[in-house]
Amino acid sequence: MSAILFVCLGNICRSPAAEGSFRAFLEARGAAESIALDSAGTGAWHVGNPPDPRMIQAARRRGIDLSELRARKVQASDWKSFDWIIAMDRDNHGVLGDRRPPGPVRARLALLGDFVDAEDPPEVPDPYYGDGEGFERVLDLLDSAWQPLLERIQADRAS
Ligand code: 4NP
Repeated sequence: MSAILFVCLGNICRSPAAEGSFRAFLEARGAAESIALDSAGTGAWHVGNPPDPRMIQAARRRGIDLSELRARKVQASDWKSFDWIIAMDRDNHGVLGDRRPPGPVRARLALLGDFVDAEDPPEVPDPYYGDGEGFERVLDLLDSAWQPLLERIQADRAS
C-alpha cells in the first residue's frame, strides 16, 4: 500500500480537490485499492469544515464528489504515515519543509507541479479569493499531474 497526502493552506480548495480528483483517476483505472489518499492544510482556520462550496460544485460538474471530506491540519505523524507529502504551491512546500520532524521519516516532500513539469514546476494557484474560473484551473492542472504521479508510485514500488 502506498500513501499520498496532498497539502494546501486551508484544506478546503486545492488539496481536497487533489484527493478527490486523484481518487477518481485511480478508480477509473482499478488502482484505487492499493493507494491510500488524504489531504490536509498547513493552516487550521477551516479544521472540521467541508470543502469550499465553489470547489465542491466545480468538482461535481466533473463527476467528483468532495462533499464528505473534512479539513484537518498537517501533523508531525504524517511524515511517518505517508510515502509522499505533495504541496500545491511553494509557500506550503516551504512551510512543510520547515515543520519536517527531526530524524528519519518515511515521507518525501514534493511540489504537485514536479509531476507536471520537472524542469519548470507550475504551482496550483490558490482559488479562494479569485473568480470562479480559478476552481476550473485547479482541476485542469491537477488532471495533468495524475498519470506522471501514478507512474512514479508504480516505479517506486518496483524498485
Ligand atoms: P486552499 O485555499 O489552501 O486551496 O484550501 C484557501 C482556503 C482558505 C484560505 C486560504 C486559501 N483562507 O485564507 O481562509
